[in-house]
Amino acid sequence: MFSTRITKLLGIRHPVICGCMQWLTRAELVAAVAEAGGLGIIPAATFDSIDELKQEIRKTRQLTSKPFAVNVTLIPMGRPFSHAEMLMAAIDEGVPVIETAARDPQDYVDMIKASGAVYLHKCARVRDVVKAAKLGADMVTVVGFECGGHPGRQDVSTMVKVARAVNAVDIPIAAGGGISDGRGLVAALSLGAEAVVMGTRFFAVRECPAHDDIKAALVSADEASTGLVLTTLEPVRALRNQVLDRVGELENKGASIAEMYPLVSGRRGLKAYMSGHADDALIPCGQGVGLIDDIPTVAELMDRIMSDAGMAIERVEAMVSVPNQRG
Ligand SMILES: Cc1cc2nc3c(=O)[nH]c(=O)nc-3n(C[C@H](O)[C@H](O)[C@H](O)COP(=O)(O)O)c2cc1C
Repeated sequence: MFSTRITKLLGIRHPVICGCMQWLTRAELVAAVAEAGGLGIIPAATFDSIDELKQEIRKTRQLTSKPFAVNVTLIPMGRPFSHAEMLMAAIDEGVPVIETAARDPQDYVDMIKASGAVYLHKCARVRDVVKAAKLGADMVTVVGFECGGHPGRQDVSTMVKVARAVNAVDIPIAAGGGISDGRGLVAALSLGAEAVVMGTRFFAVRECPAHDDIKAALVSADEASTGLVLTTLEPVRALRNQVLDRVGELENKGASIAEMYPLVSGRRGLKAYMSGHADDALIPCGQGVGLIDDIPTVAELMDRIMSDAGMAIERVEAMVSVPNQRG
């Protein structure tokens, strides 16, 4: 239905990327997204060893012959191996698309480009989009303040950031942050983006390994159910719960990261995802959670996104007034 520079570059049917989610975008979910015509992304930081990462890449390959990506988020992830080692593992395994995210990717661009993989950087500021384009990224994802996970330090919305990014560079842009349905897809394409990245929406799908109670918490949340914490360090948008409130209180008192770490650690998040206790950890989640009413399969969700996008276009077309011959 849509053909863009990004669908061609990535070899995907629909301009829909399922954003990587630590612990959650495992082989089953990534392969389901690939089979449904989008791009799924394995976050390298999910794994305790390079060997486990390689096993996951191989498992994904067994589940789909379609393209998928590996993400290396360039912030300290408390892993016993380096970002370069994670990238090298993806390159060694011949992963067709590699994504870096968050910080300056300069030190890694040459090795990724030399591998022949499509190279994508994800960032939250227009100036970082420009830098990634100059470094040689094939495409850039820019996320707005609404997004789940790391929205960066500027409180600038997706609507403005995407339009600015499209104006600033010639390479194709994928838009993320608050996009959870086909209307959001059409809005992003209208701004000049050539694909969307959805994280929060794919959190609440059947193939996501999180406990059903976590998914139920997403369904009952609305657009005002998220908040920002760690604003002085690396801001995180997450579901409002006791842990988010407590971290906010500690931050206001000027607590150190060491004091907050037990509350915000990734392992605590993993435990909550698996036990279903949505109040026990920071649960990254974007404002687009307000648009989630059910827990479909990935294939059902993708069909719905595309049919809603078609209806959104028809709705807009019907609003276009054609001046008659007499003016
Ligand atoms: C639960 C969750 C975990 C995430 N983990 C990561 C991560 O490890 N690395 C990363 O670059 N982005 C991560 N993200 C961000 C997503 O990849 C994506 O950029 C974002 O969710 C898009 O905005 P949306 O949530 O409004 O759809 C995460 C998002 C969520 C909701």
